[in-house]
Amino acid sequence: MTGRVEGKIAFVTGGGSGMGREHALLMAEEGAHLIVSDVNEEGGRQTVADINDKGGQALFINFDVSSESAWQAAVDQAVTTFGRVDILVNNAGIFLVKMMQDTTEQELDRMLNVNVKGVFYGCKHILPAMQKAGGGSIINISSIYGVIGAPAASAYQASKGAVRLLTKSVAVEYAQYNIRCNSIHPGAIRTPMTAGLMSTDEATKALLASTILRRPAEPREVSYPVLFLASSEASYITGAEIMVDGGYTTV
Ligand SMILES: NC(=O)c1ccc[n+]([C@@H]2O[C@H](COP(=O)([O-])OP(=O)(O)OC[C@H]3O[C@@H](n4cnc5c(N)ncnc54)[C@H](O)[C@@H]3O)[C@@H](O)[C@H]2O)c1
Repeated sequence: MTGRVEGKIAFVTGGGSGMGREHALLMAEEGAHLIVSDVNEEGGRQTVADINDKGGQALFINFDVSSESAWQAAVDQAVTTFGRVDILVNNAGIFLVKMMQDTTEQELDRMLNVNVKGVFYGCKHILPAMQKAGGGSIINISSIYGVIGAPAASAYQASKGAVRLLTKSVAVEYAQYNIRCNSIHPGAIRTPMTAGLMSTDEATKALLASTILRRPAEPREVSYPVLFLASSEASYITGAEIMVDGGYTTV
């Protein structure tokens, strides 16, 4: 441990699985106290137990990020427990592989509720707490699919494109309060979300055809850029979009 976020209070959504779990574990290793949230009770509690077992300090809150009232209550609980929140990682998200003409109204609503409203409400309700604390860092998890086109992902792409620009509007509006807001755009990362897409060598090869490093990433390879943006090392970076995609969007 090198204490890159020593003493900071970090809130990670979707911390019960995949990348969110890894973001929470890494920030705890680097000295932060964690609020881990998820609708996956078992996964979220496991992450918190792993942090606390190693001498860290973490709290689990089970709530659906698409609910504004749940966000308000979660931020209140975080501030009551830790006094303030310095870092928010809006990581929770869902994925859908479907042609546009087959995507139902319910599927589109759910996608936008979780992936867009979830991030919007997270920012909205953490901002007053960060203003009170004198500043903060928000990291929104978008995707390469928030930047370039792909087949059979229109609902997901609409949601992740929205996260990209929502990030920039928060950066512009809240720079005056010393609050930075940046987006991360992962490529093909090995998590439960992509397990189906990488279930055979052939499918993995197809998925990686445009990835110039020719391999998927492990979750921690995304957690380090998240940690960087969360820390004071990134003090002059706001409104930026960081591709963590093995070069997928380069060619
Ligand atoms: N895996 C990839 O290759 C990849 C690539 C680009 C972007 N992403 C994005 O990274 C983020 C993390 O994805 P992952 O691959 O770790 O997925 P994952 O499925 O392993 O984890 C997502 C977590 O979010 C939680 N979640 C889902 N809906 C929620 C809700 N309404 N409220 C609260 N929690 C909810 C899930 O329970 C789960 O624990 C997502 O936003 C995803 O879109 C993933």
